Amino acid sequence: MSQGAIALENVTLTFGEGQNAVTALKSLSLTLRPGDFLSVLGPSGCGKSSLINTVAGFQKAQTGEVRVDGEPVSRPGPDRGVVFQQPTLFPWKLVRENVDFGLKFRNVPRPQRSQMIDDILQKVGLSEFGRHYPAQLSGGMQQRVGLARVLVNKPRVMLMDEPFSSLDAQTRLMMQELLLQVWTEYGMTVLFVTHDIDEAIFLGSRLAVLTRRPGRLKALFDITLPRPRTIDTLVSKDFVTLKRTCVDLLREEMVGIPASTDIRRRHPRGGHDQVLVESADLAAWETAHQPASAYEQNPR
Ligand SMILES: Nc1ncnc2c1ncn2[C@@H]1O[C@H](COP(=O)(O)OP(=O)(O)O)[C@@H](O)[C@H]1O
Ligand SMILES: [Mg+2]
Repeated sequence: MSQGAIALENVTLTFGEGQNAVTALKSLSLTLRPGDFLSVLGPSGCGKSSLINTVAGFQKAQTGEVRVDGEPVSRPGPDRGVVFQQPTLFPWKLVRENVDFGLKFRNVPRPQRSQMIDDILQKVGLSEFGRHYPAQLSGGMQQRVGLARVLVNKPRVMLMDEPFSSLDAQTRLMMQELLLQVWTEYGMTVLFVTHDIDEAIFLGSRLAVLTRRPGRLKALFDITLPRPRTIDTLVSKDFVTLKRTCVDLLREEMVGIPASTDIRRRHPRGGHDQVLVESADLAAWETAHQPASAYEQNPR
């Protein structure tokens, strides 16, 4: 049975009340198929972390529903592994003990646990560091422990909130490759939030762009770039075209600069099959923009 389907239906999440109320997500509907790797881009403060927290069960939406494999999400669970920007490790526990935490919690028998820890530490390249403390590891290694701690539970779903954004460029690329490797092997569903356009395209099988707050779905693409993704992917023509599209969509949200003519042509009404813009947004898009002819007369 394939597992890891995520469905958000009409999710609205508001913090606070009255004059201080802040709506982070508004009528957001989104579906992830089992094994999808959905990258999510959106302006800062648009509700990306709120999205992760809602699927993780840390936040409860006021309206709408989140389901994983048909089950409504009401609390956190080991079926949904969460990885944040800073790995939340226990500094007083050894790497092995950190990884062991979830297994112990689930009452997995000790001999089995030990083998599972060995296997996962090997997978993330930390076999030799099981008996070190987190403070004795580099940032990238700590994030590997964070990944191992989640992966050891074989989650159906991985929820990742800018997990690599505090790492240097080289380490980040290594972590991205490691993540793709385990995703290919385990086949879990990944919801991956980032503000890094390259990262979103490099990793994802699909990509969602959110509007500025309150976060709604602005666009949803399939990313059909061949795998395995390599350094060459980053300089391929299709990659650059997608990147341009994302830059334009984000710029439109962040500073109100209308997306270029090029994007308009790739708009669903223009017959392009890769960009799907929600119909509600489509109407706004049409009214916010000059007619195509005016665009073409005044190219930016
Ligand atoms: N716990 C909270 N209490 C009050 N407001 C919050 C809370 N978490 C997030 N927000 C607000 O919700 C909005 C979206 O935040 P967030 O989901 O963190 O955005 P992003 O991750 O896209 O930067 C922001 O305006 C933020 O201030
Ligand atoms: Mg965030």
